[in-house]
Amino acid sequence: MKSISIATVEDAPIKVGTRVLVRVDYNVPLTVDGKISDDKRMVDSLPTIHYLLERGAKVILCSHFGRPDGKPEPQYSLRPVYEHLRVLLPQVKVQFASQTVGEQVQQQIAAMPNGSVLLLENTRFTPAETSNDPTFAKQLADLGEIFVNDAFGAAHRAHASTVGVAAYLPSYAGYLMAREIQYLSQITENPERPFTVIIGGKKISDKLPLARKLADRADYVLVGGRVAQDWEDDGVKRRAKIYVSADKGLDISAATVATWQPILTNSRTIFWNGPLGQFDVDAKNGAGTRAIAQIIVDSQAISIVGGGDTAAAVKDFKFTHVSTGGGAALEFVEGTTLPGIACLQKKGGK
Ligand code: 3PG
Repeated sequence: MKSISIATVEDAPIKVGTRVLVRVDYNVPLTVDGKISDDKRMVDSLPTIHYLLERGAKVILCSHFGRPDGKPEPQYSLRPVYEHLRVLLPQVKVQFASQTVGEQVQQQIAAMPNGSVLLLENTRFTPAETSNDPTFAKQLADLGEIFVNDAFGAAHRAHASTVGVAAYLPSYAGYLMAREIQYLSQITENPERPFTVIIGGKKISDKLPLARKLADRADYVLVGGRVAQDWEDDGVKRRAKIYVSADKGLDISAATVATWQPILTNSRTIFWNGPLGQFDVDAKNGAGTRAIAQIIVDSQAISIVGGGDTAAAVKDFKFTHVSTGGGAALEFVEGTTLPGIACLQKKGGK
């Protein structure tokens, strides 16, 4: 796999006691009784945390959680995430800061043992986060000596904790971020061919521009799910052969699966975004999505899945890479430079 041009945590000068501010994306779904229902984003952030802990760093984690509209709303507290993080790091001292920045947090950090973790309260408990306010970014930066961005899922947001802070600290990509860039770059740069894109899901307004952009680069575009029913052909000739399923039901039909099978089996790169059936209406509607997942994992292709709903639909299948990003993964593969990546140091210095 190609190496990335961005400096990673392995390039950072970490010593025992170095205060490292790590932006993670712990915006994870909760059940009605407040438990984490899918902890993939947290689990995938652990390699960076372990790397820093092994070097004796003080690991200061920050994240947004939901959209509390700039106010400290209790239902958007990161406390349930903190409880789960303790379960994921059983040998490690993990503490919680009930503020995001300020004197009290500074004191907690000063008292932290080396090789331990502190999770700060939701960065979106102030409007200064989403407005990328430089004063708030500086307050966050003052907590660390080095910044590591491992929040790929939030890299399309130019906020204080994803971008602003990088103006004040040497800034590196964490392992999760680096892996996302490596795998998703295989789609944006010279994919092995035949290259097939599967587009499903509900939101035609998001998916149509993505499908059209990718149709200029892919060999095949297969459109299913709700978006197929709303599909509009603009008559423009594109590189890819486009197959839009004619299914009118809540799942793709066996006939569509049979048509797509040889295309997928012969592909060398497959990018999939969006479920092909409405299994949120009834689990039975996941059959077509699972059949396609099985064909993909049985093929020789590099398979990359992007988008939260798709990842949840196919979590029992072993793809080459399942992205932690929803909107961020879509923007990346569309070819947008994500601000949370653009602000990081290049390998060998800025
Ligand atoms: C996501 O879940 O896609 C990210 O955490 C970004 O969240 P946002 O759309 O609220 O900025």
